[in-house]
This record gives sequence, C-alpha cells and structure tokens, in this order.
Amino acid sequence: MPLAHVHKAVLPVAGLGTRFLPATRNVPKEMLPLVDRPCLDYVAAEAVAAGIEELVLVTAEGKEAVEAWFRPAPHLEAALERLGRSDLLDEVRRVAAQVRVRTVLQTEARGLGHAVLTARPLVGDEPFAVLLADDVIVSEQPAIGQLLDAWRDSGGAMVALQRVPPEETSRYGICSGTIEQNRMRVTGLVEKPEPARAPSNVAVVGRYVLPPEVFDLLERTPPGRGGEIQLTDALAVLAGRGAVQGLLFEGERFDTGTPLGLLEATLHLALRRPDLAPGLRRILAELPPV
Ligand code: UTP
Repeated sequence: MPLAHVHKAVLPVAGLGTRFLPATRNVPKEMLPLVDRPCLDYVAAEAVAAGIEELVLVTAEGKEAVEAWFRPAPHLEAALERLGRSDLLDEVRRVAAQVRVRTVLQTEARGLGHAVLTARPLVGDEPFAVLLADDVIVSEQPAIGQLLDAWRDSGGAMVALQRVPPEETSRYGICSGTIEQNRMRVTGLVEKPEPARAPSNVAVVGRYVLPPEVFDLLERTPPGRGGEIQLTDALAVLAGRGAVQGLLFEGERFDTGTPLGLLEATLHLALRRPDLAPGLRRILAELPPV
C-alpha cells in the first residue's frame, strides 16, 4: 500500500532563544535575519518547495511577529506598488502566498518534544514533517524533500543526519545503528551526550518526518535532559521498535540557533550574492588583525 502523502509541516518556534538575548527579548530568534530574510522564511520556503501544503506554527506569547510574517501587509504592499517596486513586492509575498498557515500556542517552553505534542490537534492522525528554524540547510533538493523521498520507501520515522566533530556531540541528539550508503537504521538515540559517552558522531539535525504514533509516545515521555520533554526520548522508544531510519542528506547546514552559527551562515550566504560579495570580500580583507 503506498504511504500517505505528507501535507503538513510543524515549525516549532516557541523556544526562549536565550542564546540570542538581549536581541530575543522582543524579537523572536526565528525572525533574526540571515542577510535580508528571516531564518524562518528559509525554512518555510524549504517546506513549500518540498510540496508541503500547510505549516503548523507552534508559537509562544510575545512571538506574534512569527505569525505576522505570513499575513498580508497591505500598507507595505500598497506603498511598494506606488513606488513601482513590484520586485520587492513579490519577495514579500512569495512564501506566504503558497501555503496555508495555522498556529497553536505553547503556553510554556517545556521542550521541543512538548512543542511537537502541542501541534497534535492541528496535525491529527497523519504523518507530518518537522522543521527547526535553528537549522538552515542549503541544498539543491530541499532537505525535507530528500527526507520525504527516503520516508516513502521506509515509513516509520525518518530523521535528518549529519556527522559532527566528535567533540561536539553534547550539542545534538546522537544515534547508534547501522549505516548503509546514506541511510542509517537507527537502533538508539541519546540527547546531547558528552563525547566520552556518545555512541557515534552521527547527529540528528532539525528535519524529521514523523508518524502520528509519536504523539502517544510524547504524552508518556517524562521531562528529560534540562527538565524538558525531549523529542529525542520519544524517538528513542520508536527506535527500539525498529521504526526509525536516518538519512545522511546532501546539503550544507548552518546552525542559526547560536550567534556564531548565524554569523557563519550570514557570511557564507552573502558571499554567494553577486550584489554583496565584492563589498563583503573587501571588508573582510581590510579587517584589522586582532
Ligand atoms: P532550542 O532549545 O535550540 O531553542 O530548541 P531555544 O530554547 O529557543 O534556544 P535557547 O537554547 O534558549 O537559545 C530547538 C527548537 O525548538 C523550539 C525552538 O523554538 C527551536 O526552534 N522549541 C524549543 C519550542 O518550540 N518550544 C520549546 O519549549 C523549546
């Protein structure tokens, strides 16, 4: 029987963004710009390019700018029209016009697992994608599209994987399992292990295709590392049932959840822009030695 189509993507954007304070005091970290587009828009565009029809935003109080990003901006659009800047107008409308957006509030930041569970009423009983705006991925085929293709063969849960430097395992969910070509049959998952306890250096990054059964598991998942309900812990139970696979996807991932990662991503993307690259190269070349 062919597997169901994945219509919906959950975008959890309710985290506190403490690593970007004080900027994130009243600007959601997902709205911080990567060159001239919010990180959120890169991730939403990736989902849309992979055929996702509905975004489910899990947001929090104070993060109204996230929802507003997808709403029409009549004053701005009218002004741009008057100025004859239809190019900018298209840019403003591009992603939002192609996708339905619904929102659910996570009233307390109780962890990524809890954020995903909060989306349950809007997702219902169907497989769904999850994308984290903390990971911006530049690739020929959208990363979530690569995962969906792999998932169509396997069903269950499909997670995006990347090898990370062994000393960085404590920043990720780390997998154990067997790898064949670019696929891993995941047998175990641990959240942010210290290098000495990490079962491998294969890390889960912020793209997932999940079966609806994960909601029941999340309901039963107690707070884990950092007192938060961890998606990794629910996935570890699924992995124990042989229902998790991973894809070592093709693409370049930037960790936009930290100031240094956002700076790195900004430099990389700006250096690929013909309008910015020459000026930026000059600035970099002229930086005083420190
Ligand atoms: P992180 O733990 O990286 O994000 O969560 P954070 O908590 O916002 O950031 P710091 O650590 O305080 O700087 C990964 C993703 O899960 C979402 C975040 O918005 C981010 O996209 N998240 C996390 C939620 O939606 N709710 C939560 O309770 C926790």
